[in-house]
Amino acid sequence: MFKHVEAYPGDPILTLNENFGADPRPHKINLSIGVYLNEAGKMPAMGAVLRAESALAADLGTRPYLPMEGNAAYRAAVRELTFGGAVPADRVAIAQTLGGSGALKVGADFIARYFPKAGVWVSDPTWDNHYSIFAGAGLPVQKYRYYDAATGHVDFPGMLAALEALPAGDVVLLHACCHNPTGADLDELQWRELAALVKRRGLLPFFDMAYQGFGKGVDEDAFAIRHFAAEGIPLFAATSFSKNFSLYGERCGSLSVVCADAREAGNVLGQLKATIRRNYSSPPTHGARIIARVLDDAALRAEWRAELEGMRTRVADMRAGLYEALRERRPDGDFGYLVKQTGMFSFTGLTPAEVERLREESAVYLVGSGRLCLAALTRRTIAPTADAMARVLGR
Ligand code: LMR
Repeated sequence: MFKHVEAYPGDPILTLNENFGADPRPHKINLSIGVYLNEAGKMPAMGAVLRAESALAADLGTRPYLPMEGNAAYRAAVRELTFGGAVPADRVAIAQTLGGSGALKVGADFIARYFPKAGVWVSDPTWDNHYSIFAGAGLPVQKYRYYDAATGHVDFPGMLAALEALPAGDVVLLHACCHNPTGADLDELQWRELAALVKRRGLLPFFDMAYQGFGKGVDEDAFAIRHFAAEGIPLFAATSFSKNFSLYGERCGSLSVVCADAREAGNVLGQLKATIRRNYSSPPTHGARIIARVLDDAALRAEWRAELEGMRTRVADMRAGLYEALRERRPDGDFGYLVKQTGMFSFTGLTPAEVERLREESAVYLVGSGRLCLAALTRRTIAPTADAMARVLGR
């Protein structure tokens, strides 16, 4: 019956993470999957999250199905965190989703139904799952020029030229901050210029914001989404709370669609609900209750923001630390990209063969594309990581 089912080659990130778990070498270092670890090399449980969870534990009550669109308090708080008042609330159709991936999937299915002729354009390179999700929804996915390996920056003129040539109505996937996998982001002036192009050309932007708070700060990282929304550009925005609440397994995310008016937003929300019903009926309760509690309580929210800011600056310290360590070992090398880029990742420029050597010879795991997760580095692992990279670069 199942003879025709081919073997799964595995996922470039999640399968690698499983392989890391199975690697018996005690000195192994995992810089592949995008998770934040603290200085002890552990995934933190954030103080505000623990406090909110304890308060909820005293009052768990029953666990009915949530509505298809999710927890109302969560949706309102997340809308505020994402848009910060840049657009009237009644113009935003927002649904709680199963993490950022769930938001992308619901959005992709919605686009396939209501914009069946649209092409979807992703940055070159992008997160591998963008291809899988949009192509899986039956949409053609193509790349636009983005990263310039020679400078470690965005090739902004190249990006503008590519997007200028797209047909009106095509969907452009944009990383709102902390570009995954390169760490190369647009600055505010460039976002403004891009917004003008998107508006003039009638493109449909789909923002993915999985790392809010890890770039320049919680509000700064939402600049692009807020600016596009304030400019009256219809848009999709997927967000995730895996990283910035350290709640990976709770699968908390959101999908927002900014519409022209409240009537349109009501219709869009209705169809998002129908899309969710077709996929998984309704989202789970627990993580969303925690996040709503934190965001709705001034003291907990302030504590969360301060803790997240500490995580952000720790990643910046790791960038500087690895940069210095590599410069000591390879004074001939150019590692400036590490300190120029922002967010959890940098693109090292290592080839797949070099990444494999790092893994085989030194038990240092990067994604095959050369992406390195700075957020999983610690003071203790900087030196062995730099040693391993210097060895690979030396031959
Ligand atoms: C990553 O890019 O490593 C994370 O977003 C985890 C994932 O699902 O790939």
